[in-house]
Amino acid sequence: MKMVSTKNNLSVVLRSPKESDAKEIIEFYNIVGGETTYLSFGADEYKVSIEDQENSIKSVNESDNNTMILATINDKIIAISTISSNQKKKGKHVGTLGIVIKEEYCNLGLGKIMMDELIDWCKSNGITSRISLTVRKDNPRAIELYKKCGFEVEGILKNETYIDGEFFDTMVMGLII
Ligand SMILES: CC(C)(COP(=O)(O)OP(=O)(O)OC[C@H]1O[C@@H](n2cnc3c(N)ncnc32)[C@H](O)[C@@H]1OP(=O)(O)O)[C@@H](O)C(=O)NCCC(=O)NCCS
Repeated sequence: MKMVSTKNNLSVVLRSPKESDAKEIIEFYNIVGGETTYLSFGADEYKVSIEDQENSIKSVNESDNNTMILATINDKIIAISTISSNQKKKGKHVGTLGIVIKEEYCNLGLGKIMMDELIDWCKSNGITSRISLTVRKDNPRAIELYKKCGFEVEGILKNETYIDGEFFDTMVMGLII
């Protein structure tokens, strides 16, 4: 558990998830899915049962190359960031990064703080040597943050996302650590 401050001096707790957070994590993803179109899922599209979410938290907490960081204010989840990896010999060094902050807490520097936490965690887990992420090409705030953290653009996936009759390109970014 760690206390950090946003640019406007809000105190935020960063911590690992507990199995008892499962319901709130599901609710969080279903709400933020509707706040932004930049996530791979929309409002109420995070269809995971409480039991599956509890199992996922348990296995993340037992894993050496997966992690989840919750950011909370007054014990309410306001952001979640994750590193997800598989266990295969050829690919377990690759961590796929995900991050989402509730809209009202965006642009306060929390994204940078959470990215630095994830990157430090990857550097110290003894396994991860590459972090991958995908981001919509038209998401300048996220791209700016990732570049500031050292990520390089590695390619473009054309028409990867479809929203309301329009296709959007996705950028693949990577960081070798
Ligand atoms: C993307 C996200 C994680 C960034 O976190 P954040 O806390 O808002 O970002 P930060 O405040 O740490 O940093 C953002 C940086 O981008 C800059 N920025 C903001 N809007 C920008 C824009 N339109 N163009 C360029 N830079 C921009 C900010 O100035 C800031 O840089 P600075 O600290 O040097 O001033 C967060 O906004 C979020 O969750 N958004 C919704 C979901 C999402 O897009 N997730 C990522 C999916 S890949």
